[in-house]
Amino acid sequence: MEKFLLRNVGVPNSHEIDVYIGRGGYQALAKALKEFEPQELVNLVRESGLRGRGGAGFPAGVKWSFLPKGVYPRYLVCNADEGEPGTFKDRVLIEHDPHGLIEGIIISSYACEVEHAFIYIRGEYVFGAKRLEKAVAQAYERGYLGRNILGSGYDLELTVHRGAGSYVCGEETGLLTSLEGDRGHPKLKPPFPASQGLYRKPTIINNVETLFNVPFIVEHGAEWYKGFGTERSPGLKLFCISGHVNKPGVYELPLGTPMMTLINDYAGGPSKPIKTVIPGGSSTPMLPPDVLETLTLDYEALAAAGSMLGSGAVIVVGEGTCIVRLVERLAEFYRHESCGKCIPCREGTDWLYKIMHRIEHGQGREEDIDLLLDICDNISGKSFCPLGDAALGPITSSIKHFRDEYLYHIRERRCMV
Ligand SMILES: Cc1cc2nc3c(=O)[nH]c(=O)nc-3n(C[C@H](O)[C@H](O)[C@H](O)COP(=O)(O)O)c2cc1C
Ligand code: SF4
Repeated sequence: MEKFLLRNVGVPNSHEIDVYIGRGGYQALAKALKEFEPQELVNLVRESGLRGRGGAGFPAGVKWSFLPKGVYPRYLVCNADEGEPGTFKDRVLIEHDPHGLIEGIIISSYACEVEHAFIYIRGEYVFGAKRLEKAVAQAYERGYLGRNILGSGYDLELTVHRGAGSYVCGEETGLLTSLEGDRGHPKLKPPFPASQGLYRKPTIINNVETLFNVPFIVEHGAEWYKGFGTERSPGLKLFCISGHVNKPGVYELPLGTPMMTLINDYAGGPSKPIKTVIPGGSSTPMLPPDVLETLTLDYEALAAAGSMLGSGAVIVVGEGTCIVRLVERLAEFYRHESCGKCIPCREGTDWLYKIMHRIEHGQGREEDIDLLLDICDNISGKSFCPLGDAALGPITSSIKHFRDEYLYHIRERRCMV
């Protein structure tokens, strides 16, 4: 399949502005500024059906249309925190095609009538942040950022802000408090950021990949974009596949592609018989191998299978992997990343980890399985932000599909694999 999102990856010096321009870069920006009024661009993106690629899949154009009329200043924040374990697609775009992201941000900012945009990049992405900072400086030098962009009269400042390595700062309100200089902690919604976000002003927050799609939609049109994918999940998607496959990496495919096409035809096939697949990042419920043959990679099919497309991070888990150990590791991650603001998540994730730890270390009790499910029930829907719920996917789904492994650990005090 022809590549769009990854078209510059692998091209020598693809991060340099001259290479980007030489390959047709910044033409969509020129077209957007010349041929579209901001509201027309919002309508175009809405019409394309582009859904947010950060995890929830909310339609981008619909989100943009929530901005309250006539309230300024407005801000746009690109979420480059990429903290969900298993996810590394935004990193590839940032490191190999930073100008593609910058072009997407400028067009989206123009559409939303924003004059100051931010890229919030996770602290661990030092190399990516340096590439972005250099690319932003180049874009200023060439007149793609700053005052009177390409003679259009439109002004935009773009600031790259480095986070300090916290999963909860990927959650949009946590990100905003961190960007404001406070400790990164989630805020109550509503008000949603589109009406009261950064500095209590209307703010659009979109994922890197979401914004990266926008120049292609401007260039080729909404109908072209809808020609990829399914009716309800249109467009192209980056899938980052890891774990027990022969060629882990980032692959660009239309939404609705069969899961086994990604695994076999792109990722080189499984390196071990598949035991389970975590389809959308570590927080999404794991799936048993028998559903994989007919499963397609789109929002609806994964929801129907009892999981989520999430960030498009497909983790293939082969035979020989201890599910209890795997889930214990994930429980440790969520316990560590809980910000501690609300009790169900702060205490619950701690208990989940402690119980998983004792089962894994041969000190579990049979009633622990019900206790785990009871704690999950006490977190589910009762936490302040979605991180609490995110911690539950691995636990509830592993008990559902691999209860026998839990029981073996508890009764035999050792691992069955
Ligand atoms: C705990 C948590 C972590 C998140 N981490 C990220 C992240 O790293 N990157 C991201 O784009 N969205 C992340 N999100 C989703 C954001 O809150 C938000 O929905 C997203 O940035 C919106 O962009 P989109 O509409 O383009 O997907 C996270 C959500 C939660 C609850
Ligand atoms: S759910 Fe967890 S991360 Fe979210 S506010 Fe509560 S303690 Fe913090």
